Amino acid sequence: MTELWMDAPTAEPERQYYFMEQARKYVEAKAKELGRDLTFCVTTFGCQMNARDSEKLVGVLEKIGYKEETVEEQADFVIYNTCTVRENANMRVYGRLGQLGHIKKSHPHMMIGLCGCMMQEPEVVEKLKKSYRFVDLIFGTHNIYKFAELLATRFASERMVIDIWKDTDKIVEDLPSERKFPFKSGVNIMFGCNNFCSYCIVPYVRGRERSREPKAIIREIERLVADGVVEIMLLGQNVNSYGKNLEEPITFAQLLEEIEKIEGLERIRFMTSHPKDLSDELIEVMKHSKKVCRHLHLPVQSGSTNILEKMNRRYTKEQYLMLAKKIKEAVPDISLTTDIIVGFPGESEEDFLETMDVVRQVRYDSAFTFIYSKRTGTPAAVMEEQVPEAVIKDRFDRLLKEVQEISAEECKKQEGSIQKALVETVNDHDASLVTGRLSNNLLVHFPGDSSLIGKLVNVKLEECKGFYYLGSKVDSAKTE
Ligand code: SAH
Ligand code: SF4
Ligand code: F3S
Repeated sequence: MTELWMDAPTAEPERQYYFMEQARKYVEAKAKELGRDLTFCVTTFGCQMNARDSEKLVGVLEKIGYKEETVEEQADFVIYNTCTVRENANMRVYGRLGQLGHIKKSHPHMMIGLCGCMMQEPEVVEKLKKSYRFVDLIFGTHNIYKFAELLATRFASERMVIDIWKDTDKIVEDLPSERKFPFKSGVNIMFGCNNFCSYCIVPYVRGRERSREPKAIIREIERLVADGVVEIMLLGQNVNSYGKNLEEPITFAQLLEEIEKIEGLERIRFMTSHPKDLSDELIEVMKHSKKVCRHLHLPVQSGSTNILEKMNRRYTKEQYLMLAKKIKEAVPDISLTTDIIVGFPGESEEDFLETMDVVRQVRYDSAFTFIYSKRTGTPAAVMEEQVPEAVIKDRFDRLLKEVQEISAEECKKQEGSIQKALVETVNDHDASLVTGRLSNNLLVHFPGDSSLIGKLVNVKLEECKGFYYLGSKVDSAKTE
């Protein structure tokens, strides 16, 4: 194999296509030896960013001849794309990995790969090297584009392959990817994060903020649309600061306007928006756009100005409330959703009541509520006054109840209206129903069959069920 390395092109993505070709030969030979196809199973933990990365892994695996296997224990190659944003995300990976180790004992040919955010933590890799020797391949978030090369290395060496980079300023375009849904796709517009919210590990494991060139983004979306995609989700940790560091700077709002022009594309979503960078220009674009969905995820984290300052969020309660009001005035049918952390160090009952107050004032359509999780290496981890568990639990329950009541009331307001839904799946529980996503990101279940998947149809929202609807399809003629 060494001479193959000497022949490898140095430019990307050509180099990776070269290694895909080499890996394909190995997979073909192995399949011949076994008399069957080789299979893979990729499990994704964490956010949309990781989900998109997994599609890139699957793209490479399919290109080199692996076939997908949904039962993990039966796959020849198991990959965990990990998350470390909260401690419990971490624990789940170790738990599943332990079980996998047992299975591998009776299936010695099984290969196990680990990648994603957890691998960017040196302690994790140390622990894996020591106690999980059965793992075959470990790589991080910055060199995921090198997956084909790392695979080829593992195939050639029969030894544990570990490749982790601390950071990168590189973005490699035009690698294969295999979408989970034919009709919708995530599209990275930027990587990394520069915000360093004091509780958050993401900037440490995803590196510094880098934006993709608008041309590359547009080209990717045009190709996706040509391939049947009607809805895209633009992905970044803080999309509102997109483009600031490009050689020819461009704002996120301007990028949206460019994307809006792509013919055949029906819906544009994006996440996540940091309140401190949300511009009037963006609100204007959302107001007039025909394609940008009526949904804005605007994480507040806390309603207390005091806690927000300790979190390094760089806005006050009042600024956040003003912003929410401005958006609702400009786009009255917008659905606002948020993330809230309960039990940040030093959070008093008064601070918590400020959060409850924001929830009541903004009336979120839905909110993800998280219990604060201490992440080693972040400034908040060494802050004094960690809040006792019982106090956090009590606040968490009160918050959840409030959030759920309000979202059910907000959901109810749309009852009886007719809205467009993009049909995503046949319903899991009742095969006579299909499930569609509304512009505001809520789901509606209604009678239909698989021929509707990927289509935008008009649906009457007959009954609100708290956080989703039951509905019925309406002929488009009736809604004109
Ligand atoms: N970039 C996005 C969030 C990415 S992480 C943003 O800034 O909004 C997703 C959510 O996880 C965050 O919004 C936050 O609510 C939560 N989170 C992050 N770190 C956490 C921690 N240490 N403990 C609990 N929740 C956390
Ligand atoms: Fe984490 Fe804050 Fe960056 Fe979001 S903006 S990823 S919460 S540091
Ligand atoms: Fe988790 Fe990494 Fe996303 S830590 S939330 S998978 S960016």
